[in-house]
Amino acid sequence: FKQIPFMKAKLLVSTAFLAASVSLSAQKSATITVHADQGKEIIPKEIYGQFAEHLGSCIYGGLWVGEKSDIPNIKGYRTDVFNALKELSVPVLRWPGGCFADEYHWMDGIGPKENRPKMVNNNWGGTIEDNSFGTHEFLNLCEMLGCEPYISGNVGSGTVEELAKWVEYMTSDGDSPMANLRRKNGRDKAWKVKYLGVGNESWGCGGSMRPEYYADLYRRYSTYCRNYDGNHLFKIASGASDYDYNWTDVLMNRVGHRMQGLSLHYYTVTGWSGSKGAATKFNKDDYYWTMGKCLEVEDVIKKHCAIMDKYDKDKKIALLLDEWGTWWDEEPGTVRGHLYQQNTLRDAFVASLSLDVFHKYTDRLKMANIAQIVNVLQSMILTKDKDMVLTPTYYVFKMYKAHQDATYLPLDLTCEKMNVRDNRTVPMISATASKDKNGIIHISLSNVDADNAQEITINLGDIKAKKAVGEILTSANLTDYNSFENPDIVKLAPFKEVKINKGTLKVKLPAKSIVTLELQ
Ligand code: AHR
Repeated sequence: FKQIPFMKAKLLVSTAFLAASVSLSAQKSATITVHADQGKEIIPKEIYGQFAEHLGSCIYGGLWVGEKSDIPNIKGYRTDVFNALKELSVPVLRWPGGCFADEYHWMDGIGPKENRPKMVNNNWGGTIEDNSFGTHEFLNLCEMLGCEPYISGNVGSGTVEELAKWVEYMTSDGDSPMANLRRKNGRDKAWKVKYLGVGNESWGCGGSMRPEYYADLYRRYSTYCRNYDGNHLFKIASGASDYDYNWTDVLMNRVGHRMQGLSLHYYTVTGWSGSKGAATKFNKDDYYWTMGKCLEVEDVIKKHCAIMDKYDKDKKIALLLDEWGTWWDEEPGTVRGHLYQQNTLRDAFVASLSLDVFHKYTDRLKMANIAQIVNVLQSMILTKDKDMVLTPTYYVFKMYKAHQDATYLPLDLTCEKMNVRDNRTVPMISATASKDKNGIIHISLSNVDADNAQEITINLGDIKAKKAVGEILTSANLTDYNSFENPDIVKLAPFKEVKINKGTLKVKLPAKSIVTLELQ
């Protein structure tokens, strides 16, 4: 902010030399027109879904410490983490994987804890787990959080019978063998389980299958996953990775309406071999590259949607981006294979830009699950023993909560663009708008520009608003993050640089900042 008046003064001096220097720090402008009369699609709250895998300290230490822990807990769930998640209104939680799901045998995770066998987590560092967090612990957590469970079933190394019985155990209310076993284990009433993933990354860690073979397996496994006692499963086939359009084509062709949803995974990652770059040490070029890679998800979604449209014109089959987010090198000094990474203001931009894209495709895209909720990849929360920090990404999810289940409002945006590494183009402003059930309009704005403030003129058309209030997320450096020593470096603050005059909103957005406004 401080630099804006200074740079305005500088702009008055018109020399070629200064023209170059102002691009480092100046105020630019952008215009937006919000079409409040054109809202058709609801942004499903499930776009704000989360993912919790048995990976590193996501479950053990992150969500779950057990009742006997000296870390404050509610029935074994960390109190601090639980309360922070409550604040986010988590709509859906995917579990137990990820790659872990295709080696997980659910029967090892039920019954008295002392009788549960230990297991080796082969996918993630060979860590020994005691199965103290199993089906009851997961589904009870979902009930306490008020979110839908999304169970990821084992197709890679499990049997049809095993998956069928798991569904019966969770959802049957009758006098059935699995329902009775559940009752014996302390839960009388069946849970409601809507989302069922039939395998995960079946082209890779979930069985290294070809799409034709997996399509047949999907048909076989899903046949025996029954709807018990008023529970209606929404069955999801394991989908493509990023640019694998053939996988989507084969699945749509061979499985079709036997699935209610087809998944997709897209990570903002430099590549799968070698270093992925440090989460907290990067330069501006890396930052803009990250924005370009993250925004490429739009093209990927469009292409998968076009294939789905070919087979399913009425858009009955949902696309679910059930893994997305940044993937950096693991933090030095942490356990290899635990995918523990810090989270900077750069990650916050990946969150806001991605969510802005997702909002545009909700006629087909019905869910997205950021990877992952605690201590893994682009997480909401990091924990260390008794301490917890909220990440910049957490704050984006908190600000954007206003868009959950709201009507998406299309908008036109004109702003500067930048050509970045790998032939991608990054607009300097990203924006999204929605109208909630009470008729309140929220507009989220990201100024991606690392150096320049932006004056955004927003044409509100017929929207009657007298004022706008909001919050801002920014920090002195893009590399800033919240650590256990300094947990409040990047956090939300009230935002006041906004004026309304005759249907036009003027917003002064500092460099590298994210804002959500509520029109009143
Ligand atoms: O989220 C980490 C891993 O990424 C998941 O286990 C897997 O599905 C994906 O490759």
